[in-house]
Amino acid sequence: MNDLRAECRALRKQLDAAGDGAIFAEALEAVSEAIVIYDAEGRLVTCNHNFRELYGYSEEEARPGVHFAELGKIDVARGHVVVGDEYGDGDAYLERKAEYRRSLEGSFIVQLKDGRWLKTTDRRMSGGGFVSVQVDITEIKHKEEVFRNAMEQAEAAARSKSEFLANISHDLRTPLNAILGFSEMVLGEVSGPFENETYRGYLENIHKGGRLLLSIVDDILDTAKLDSGKYNLKPERFDPIELTEEVLATFTPISRDKDLQISVTAPPEGMPTIVSDRRALIQIMNNLVSNACKHTDDGGSIDLRWGLSEGKYVQFSVTDNGVGMPAELVAKIGEPFLSDGSATALRGERGTGLGFYICTKLVDLLGGVLSVDSTPGEGTSVSVQWPLESLAPEPMT
Ligand SMILES: Nc1ncnc2c1ncn2[C@@H]1O[C@H](COP(=O)(O)OP(=O)(O)O)[C@@H](O)[C@H]1O
Ligand SMILES: [Mg+2]
Repeated sequence: MNDLRAECRALRKQLDAAGDGAIFAEALEAVSEAIVIYDAEGRLVTCNHNFRELYGYSEEEARPGVHFAELGKIDVARGHVVVGDEYGDGDAYLERKAEYRRSLEGSFIVQLKDGRWLKTTDRRMSGGGFVSVQVDITEIKHKEEVFRNAMEQAEAAARSKSEFLANISHDLRTPLNAILGFSEMVLGEVSGPFENETYRGYLENIHKGGRLLLSIVDDILDTAKLDSGKYNLKPERFDPIELTEEVLATFTPISRDKDLQISVTAPPEGMPTIVSDRRALIQIMNNLVSNACKHTDDGGSIDLRWGLSEGKYVQFSVTDNGVGMPAELVAKIGEPFLSDGSATALRGERGTGLGFYICTKLVDLLGGVLSVDSTPGEGTSVSVQWPLESLAPEPMT
């Protein structure tokens, strides 16, 4: 402790002996930035070695009393400032620098002929003069460029991935439709009776596998379209309850198999017709109902509820009393390839984990929100809400 006090006293003595001016001059030379101080008229008061070095000024050129405009002219004459870039030619550069020095706000960035980037930050001092701190930011600029290039490359890669997926999905659908169509024809005994029951079983498996594959291909195609902004909404006027019944008809086989009670609830005053993208809504509803069917045990119930809120928003929800979702999974909704990886998640047909991702993107396009409320062991409710007249019908031609 005593040692420390003695040291402080010694240091203080040293400082007193040197005087503030000498300490300041020493500090000015010791820092790594280029520093220059100008008086209220813009004439150089003092500068450090780094400042002269940065621009290649001689001691004579960067002498006390010289105006910053003189130094600027030297820069331009030596071709120091990059001409013809965003800073304009020599005169424009000088004008911009003078402008900056009138306001002394923010920073002034310039590139020199040798490729270096310099950042000047000036701050006013009490006597009307100002202190200018200049730093070589070439390395930061290079890193920015590397980062920008990497971003551009990543975006281009994502674009070509989406295009590739969209094309390949289209190509996969054609043979898949043949597999589905012809297996349906044979199973339906279109050209005469089909007697071998073992083969019927095989054929049913082919058909089931084909359907699953088609739904995966469709998910990938929709994801690719949504990711590349190529999903165009087509507004139409329709009756939402009729649409719901159409969607639910495709779930009759699974609800019968699992003995699920599926109900549709509309407000007492009924639902008006709405203008929206029918296909997007069918897709959203399909995924939510298929999720509910997959993750609800036999004998469970599912309710599809329509409503209007504040007369401004349309809303529908799909509520089941199934296995529910863990909070970690709910938190990830909106991310692609969602799966809790558990046996429960896989008890039905294994999906792509793109369903919620597609729904979230579609609801986004409608200008709405999708929210999930789920309790493991009790059930899940997913609701979608969007502005009533967000999509104007196309004008009649
Ligand atoms: N109603 C639900 N009840 C319980 N879990 C659900 C429900 N809906 C979705 N999940 C869980 O969320 C995951 C992701 O759903 P989704 O994005 O539609 O993908 P996919 O249906 O292709 O698996 C499902 O695998 C499942 O684990
Ligand atoms: Mg799904």
